[in-house]
Amino acid sequence: MFPSSFPCLGRSCFSLGRYSIVPLRYEDRFLIMRWRNAQIYHLRQARPLTEEDQERYFGTAIAKMYQVKERPEQLLFSYLRDGECIGYGGLVHINWLNRNAEVSFIMDTKLEADEFALHWTNWLTLLRAIAFGQLGLHKIYTYAFDLRPHLYPVLESAGFVKEAVLKEHCLFEGQYKDVVIHSLWPYTVKNYTGCSKEELLEVLELRNRPEIRSLMVNQAPIAVEDHFRFVEGLSGRKDRRYFAVYSHDGGLAGTYNLSDEGGGKWDRGIVSAQPGKGRTAWWEFQLLGMMGNEVNALTAIVKPDNLASVRYHQKIGFREVGRDPDYIHYLLPLDE
Ligand SMILES: CC(C)(COP(=O)(O)OP(=O)(O)OC[C@H]1O[C@@H](n2cnc3c(N)ncnc32)[C@H](O)[C@@H]1OP(=O)(O)O)[C@@H](O)C(=O)NCCC(=O)NCCS
Repeated sequence: MFPSSFPCLGRSCFSLGRYSIVPLRYEDRFLIMRWRNAQIYHLRQARPLTEEDQERYFGTAIAKMYQVKERPEQLLFSYLRDGECIGYGGLVHINWLNRNAEVSFIMDTKLEADEFALHWTNWLTLLRAIAFGQLGLHKIYTYAFDLRPHLYPVLESAGFVKEAVLKEHCLFEGQYKDVVIHSLWPYTVKNYTGCSKEELLEVLELRNRPEIRSLMVNQAPIAVEDHFRFVEGLSGRKDRRYFAVYSHDGGLAGTYNLSDEGGGKWDRGIVSAQPGKGRTAWWEFQLLGMMGNEVNALTAIVKPDNLASVRYHQKIGFREVGRDPDYIHYLLPLDE
């Protein structure tokens, strides 16, 4: 009934291991109706939806969403586990003048008790690819009636900042309740060729840390002159791209490099400046969302005893495609 991609996006589907987001599927409409009706208390919805309401809504507003060629007002996705819809939501009230949008998400009501944090966290990681990577938004935010305080620590551990409380902003069962707004900004991604000398020295310091070097294919420390010569050599090269990634507060989050291997496959290297905090996937998904059409799969090689990296690649959805005594070979297709 609906296409499987949005005409306004270069890529409409993203996966994180077993989980994925795909443009909102027609077949999920009654599941969603049931969840919305069960959770009506925290939604801006005046009365329970009927099947006719839902059919009408999908036939009008949702059908229209698939025709917008640029600057959509909203983009909604089904959230899947192993292909089965277990939630939905997206970006709504997209403001193109100010480049911001509100995040919406609800999950299957029966998952809320035990898997609330897991699914919100996955959702927000995947949505980064769309909001920041594909649409280039500058800010996304949640607008929540103050009825579910257990949502706030989940948002904050996904990098959102509590930005505002609108006092007694909604009327709920005869009582005025606050609205709480949490916001998130993208990482800044800079090609090494556009970095300042100080930024390049910081990148080199990260690369030369003994704990990082020991995990690299080339384990020797890199001299400052060699580093600058290497970066100079990158200028104008389309087949080798090196990026420094900065968090919104300006700190170096890590480095990311891509080398063209032909046939749409690019070898990608990644180093986190703050490993082990579960944050690397946040910026990698933004970068995955920024990949152009010339990239259809990423490859990576990882030492089998680099357990954090093995685990990380598995979690993100890289598949093991080979193994030799020194390395595990991974592949992440982007267009499945
Ligand atoms: C590989 C790397 C980019 C992963 O980023 P990260 O921020 O550490 O990733 P996460 O914090 O999400 O951790 C990934 C997983 O590894 C696990 N992990 C972390 N350290 C671990 C360790 N020493 N042993 C086993 N597992 C570990 C985490 O628990 C997490 O699994 P979980 O989500 O199931 O809990 C980062 O560790 C890094 O920069 N390492 C050094 C450079 C490197 O190895 N790059 C890759 C070269 S192939």
